[in-house]
Amino acid sequence: MDKISFTINGERHSLSGTEVSSSTSLNDYIRNYAGLFGTKAMCHEGGCGACTVTVSQVHPNTKERRVVAVNSCLVHVLSCHQWDITTVEGVGASHRDIQKRLAEFNGTQCGYCTPGWVMSMHSLYEGSEAKLTERQVERAFGGNMCRCTGYRPILDAFKSFAVDVVSSIQDVEDLHKMKCLKKVKDKEEDDWCVIDNTSESLLSLHLSASRWYKAYTVQDVYKILSREGMDSYRFIAGNTGKGVYPYKTEARVNIDISSVTILRDTYTDENLVLGAGMTISEVMATFQKIRKNNYDFHYLEQFYKHLELVATVPVRNIGTIGGNLALKNSHQEFPSDIFVLLATVEATVTIVDSALKFAEVKMQDFPKTDIKNKLIVNVKLPPLSMSHLIRTYKIMPRAQNAHAIVNAGFHFVLDSKKEVSSAVLVFGSINEHFIRAKETENILKGKKLFSDETLQIAMKTLQEELKPDDRPPEQSPACRKSIALGLFYKAILSLSPTVNPRYRSGGEDIVREISRGTQVYDTDKSVWPLNQPVPKLEALAQCSGEANYACDRVPSPRQVHLAFVTSSVCLGEIVDFDASEAMKLSGVVAFLTAKDIPGGNNFTPKDVPWQNYNEEILASKTISYYGQPVGVIAAVTHKLALKAAGLVKVKYKKSDKKPVLDVKSALNAPDKEKRIREDANVKATERGSDTTHVIKGTFSMGDQYHYTMETQSCMATHTTRGLKLRSATQWMDLVHVAAAHATGLPLHRLEVEVPRVGGGYGGKASRSAQIACACAVAAHTLKRDAVLVLPLSDNMEIVGKRQACYTEFEVGVNDDGVIQYLEVVYYSDCGCSYNDTAGLDIAGVMTNLYSSKRWTIKGYSVLTDKASNTWCRAPATTEATAIVEHIMERIAHATKKDSIDVRISNIAPENNAIKDIIDTLKIDSKFDERKAQIEKFNSENAWVKRSLKMSLMSFPISYSGNFAVTISVYHADGTILMSHGGIEMGQGINTKVAQVCAYILNVPLEMITVRGSDSFTSPNAMASNGSITSESVAFATVKACKELLERLEPAKAELYEPKWIDVIKKAYDKGINLQVNAMTSSLDHLVGYSIYGACVAEVELHALEGTTQLLRVDLVQDTGRSMSPALDVGQIEGAFIMGLGLWTSERLVYDPSGKLLTNNTWTYKPPGANDIPVDFRVYFRRNESANVGVLRSKATGEPALVLSVVVAFAIHGAITEIRKEFGYNDIDWVPLDTPCTVEHIMKAISPNVESYKLK
Ligand SMILES: Cc1cc2nc3c(=O)[nH]c(=O)nc-3n(C[C@H](O)[C@H](O)[C@H](O)COP(=O)(O)OP(=O)(O)OC[C@H]3O[C@@H](n4cnc5c(N)ncnc54)[C@H](O)[C@@H]3O)c2cc1C
Ligand code: FES
Ligand code: FES
Repeated sequence: MDKISFTINGERHSLSGTEVSSSTSLNDYIRNYAGLFGTKAMCHEGGCGACTVTVSQVHPNTKERRVVAVNSCLVHVLSCHQWDITTVEGVGASHRDIQKRLAEFNGTQCGYCTPGWVMSMHSLYEGSEAKLTERQVERAFGGNMCRCTGYRPILDAFKSFAVDVVSSIQDVEDLHKMKCLKKVKDKEEDDWCVIDNTSESLLSLHLSASRWYKAYTVQDVYKILSREGMDSYRFIAGNTGKGVYPYKTEARVNIDISSVTILRDTYTDENLVLGAGMTISEVMATFQKIRKNNYDFHYLEQFYKHLELVATVPVRNIGTIGGNLALKNSHQEFPSDIFVLLATVEATVTIVDSALKFAEVKMQDFPKTDIKNKLIVNVKLPPLSMSHLIRTYKIMPRAQNAHAIVNAGFHFVLDSKKEVSSAVLVFGSINEHFIRAKETENILKGKKLFSDETLQIAMKTLQEELKPDDRPPEQSPACRKSIALGLFYKAILSLSPTVNPRYRSGGEDIVREISRGTQVYDTDKSVWPLNQPVPKLEALAQCSGEANYACDRVPSPRQVHLAFVTSSVCLGEIVDFDASEAMKLSGVVAFLTAKDIPGGNNFTPKDVPWQNYNEEILASKTISYYGQPVGVIAAVTHKLALKAAGLVKVKYKKSDKKPVLDVKSALNAPDKEKRIREDANVKATERGSDTTHVIKGTFSMGDQYHYTMETQSCMATHTTRGLKLRSATQWMDLVHVAAAHATGLPLHRLEVEVPRVGGGYGGKASRSAQIACACAVAAHTLKRDAVLVLPLSDNMEIVGKRQACYTEFEVGVNDDGVIQYLEVVYYSDCGCSYNDTAGLDIAGVMTNLYSSKRWTIKGYSVLTDKASNTWCRAPATTEATAIVEHIMERIAHATKKDSIDVRISNIAPENNAIKDIIDTLKIDSKFDERKAQIEKFNSENAWVKRSLKMSLMSFPISYSGNFAVTISVYHADGTILMSHGGIEMGQGINTKVAQVCAYILNVPLEMITVRGSDSFTSPNAMASNGSITSESVAFATVKACKELLERLEPAKAELYEPKWIDVIKKAYDKGINLQVNAMTSSLDHLVGYSIYGACVAEVELHALEGTTQLLRVDLVQDTGRSMSPALDVGQIEGAFIMGLGLWTSERLVYDPSGKLLTNNTWTYKPPGANDIPVDFRVYFRRNESANVGVLRSKATGEPALVLSVVVAFAIHGAITEIRKEFGYNDIDWVPLDTPCTVEHIMKAISPNVESYKLK
């Protein structure tokens, strides 16, 4: 019997196929079979990097060993033949420096993404021949997402390994103690367990329902296909294609072609021949080699740069060009960059059929060529002399790891008179049939390329020729057309020897410098370890993969995996279920519906604060949104449960009502009255009489997905008392109460524990209870342990998001911009229930900074037919601040006053303190100087504009809820273990309370450990929400420590100059209770406060592409005397970058039926590592002496997010500058929809091609 073998961390694994299924990924294997939980997974589609591992493999042709990062979620485990795989647990001792350094730079918060980062860096280091440069490091992590940190500390940690690192990133204390890793030349022989690579004959493995072959020759491939038939086969090269187009069905025959030697061949005859099985990384390396001194392939320089923008490093490491082209062939709308590049130079593709007949096809004909039962063998790139002028471009929604909104390639040949003898204009993502702009190509022939006349003729033809299709969630046809036209102009600008100098930069790419960060804060050593910048207590455990999350547990033998069956209608009623097809699958255990819930079908019980409306765990009859859970499948594996869930047929009586999916539709809906609830009614108490300008407007901001790297998850295990839930929740008490109600168990027989949470941001507060209840009910009903981990698409569809908000306003101001009256109405989009609505609080925050006596505010919560929206980092404060700051921008525009002066003249006298912050920030950021520089830059550059803006905030903090702390001191060594009712989800609460405990008890921080939270030691705990948990728990810690110190007094009194350990021993001898418990509650009457902040952002905008770059951000926040400055820097940076996503790239798109179209990493784009400010400076407010907060420390988890609206203002500023170039004489405010995506920017710019000129 054939077997494939590989090693994981040096341990050998052999598989005959029967052990796994045709969908078992390497990630499944690592976690579920090898029991290594350090490797995580989130998206299972190559988009997040959580699953990254290092692979050492031998090239089938060259026999060279290469070490690369791969996404273990994409690789099928049977593809791993002869691979040596390293997971985060197996990183050798010499490379623990990577882990240590990441920890010391505070590069982890929730830590769920961390193993993926470590392994990407480990692979980069291991796989690179030469020493790494900062640039290489900075560009290498497009495939790793992190929602918590804002990337800066991770990049700094990793760049510190680069040879050209500058000292500015070495701010971290004691960095000098760390030494750079030394390159070990002959490391492979020592480190890698090389499996014998002798057998190279066809391997055949039997899986339960399919066959797996590993082929080495084309003959092998066709031998298999002739034996097995060609009705259901799949070639497996890198297997990354499923990240773009998930498999709908499994193939009966899978043929691993990654070692077919002919496909891996590369050589130059006249052409450059690239084997179709070459990975994109290998192709890039080849390009790099060949372009040097080889003028015939000068264009490879361009291509290399373009390929840097394709996919991510781990995808490029195994994804092949043949696989990419095959995807293009089967999905013609696929915006393949490989295809665009190859078509631009009119490359050919070689195909072989079952008769082993080779055929060459022109690239432009390839998409329509029938390649069924054929193998792509290679592509041939022609040599092209320097007279071939070539440019290629890719426009993306973010800097890396995104498919093209539009991609294009331009190839001109000019004769001696500089007239066009041939032209190739290739565009991707126009429509599925469009490849080349033939009419424009023809019209260009014989014309002088670099003349305004030709340009205009070509533009007009192109404008008519390009007919983009409407394909939501892709950007609109108008946007794609504008970009395509802009790119053509850009190419001409960049190629033309002479152009008007003002236009020159329009032909250049926006260049991103290596990013830098500065963090400025004071620290008072006299109170250390309080106020001491320390790494997180758990950072090393997170970096080494030891940190466990809710479902990182070896399953018990009868454990079932659960998957939700979700509604495929938005509105209607359930008539019937038919689970027969699902139940036929071997290994499917049960299908449960609302009827199987023994207790209450409600995960938002009213006996928990804030939950005022019942929400069903599983819809019993009425469907309120598309994707609502209606049933649960239990099966022996996760993938089986998901597959079975897809087979359950649900019969609905579909409502004939049109789904209402946004606020504006709700306001016009026939049942409008039922959808709107008044939440706020603030009446003006005075009105000014000096109104010289009246501004009316609207302002909208979108919703936002939380994007936790750990999706909603829960594990239920049976105990002798009842059930134990390990839940990824921010709110243990809600999970506890709701799950007890649902199962009918009394609360004392149901325990909840939360080891830590892999990112919450509000999304795992109330919403986690639905998942926990479903899991508890299944475990209880089936009498088996159960685990429910939502796949990303379910997580995005089932769980509500940040509430979108729509505002209408009218403001009257005097010539100085001082508000005489303001009338605002806002509408907050709640989704299908009023639970968790921000509508109640927006008005209160709006009035928190400026004089608001003249303000009339009405606020409403609005029901729409979507999942019930919920809190998302800085709910209400984000909307409120954005509305008010937007109005300030509008006033400045109308009065032609400086927008900072307008703000200052409206600030309420009680908030005058913020004026100092503004003044200091203006100096720190060199605001006035840079503004002048920007004006000069804008006057010298027509198509690239910059803009500098400021935003302010006064972020209100108020305390609520119970948070308990338990401290146990051990008599034998005096060490201390703490537990508390807050949830550690990355904010560093454990570290902060340990610092507080160490400070009050006056013991070294190393003596303290903080364990995860549970409902026994911390019952009835409030949700960890709203920035106040760390302080609330810190307050309880102070109380507990003080009580302990009091108890220790008698022991201390008996000792002379006692050390801590002596006191503890003595106390033990005296029978003093060394466990102490305290709680913060409303009885403590903690007084709230406001957090001031200000932020300056400079943005650069490329008018021809609609893309932006955030050049610099200076952010000052009043942190009080921070408990833990390094952690608070992380909170501020992370919050700001999450806000950056909200205002720039994160866009949720629903189709009219209510289905969320952006439910995966391919379509939903939070910022990545290369989207953060190039220069990010964070300052804690200096000389802050106010005695507010707990131990004078203020909250940091959310406020910086609200300041991020400044980026939208800066983009708007740049747009107004650009519009002048198009001849628009804007008197009115230029509308700009948010988020400021490429599409919305292009719409606001509204380019007029007649302005595109060379002279
Ligand atoms: C996260 C992510 C981001 C991406 N971003 C981009 C991007 O920005 N631009 C872009 O262009 N692409 C992008 N891609 C697509 C990526 O380039 C392709 O997934 C990859 O090149 C496919 O190669 P593979 O070897 O993994 O193919 P596989 O997944 O192994 O195969 C894909 C299909 O091709 C067939 N096939 C494979 N090899 C051959 C062959 N030699 N002959 C005939 N049929 C074959 C298979 O049967 C299968 O149907 C992205 C992919 C992911 C996962
Ligand atoms: S889980 Fe593999 S990339 Fe997201
Ligand atoms: S630390 Fe990166 S996602 Fe939480």
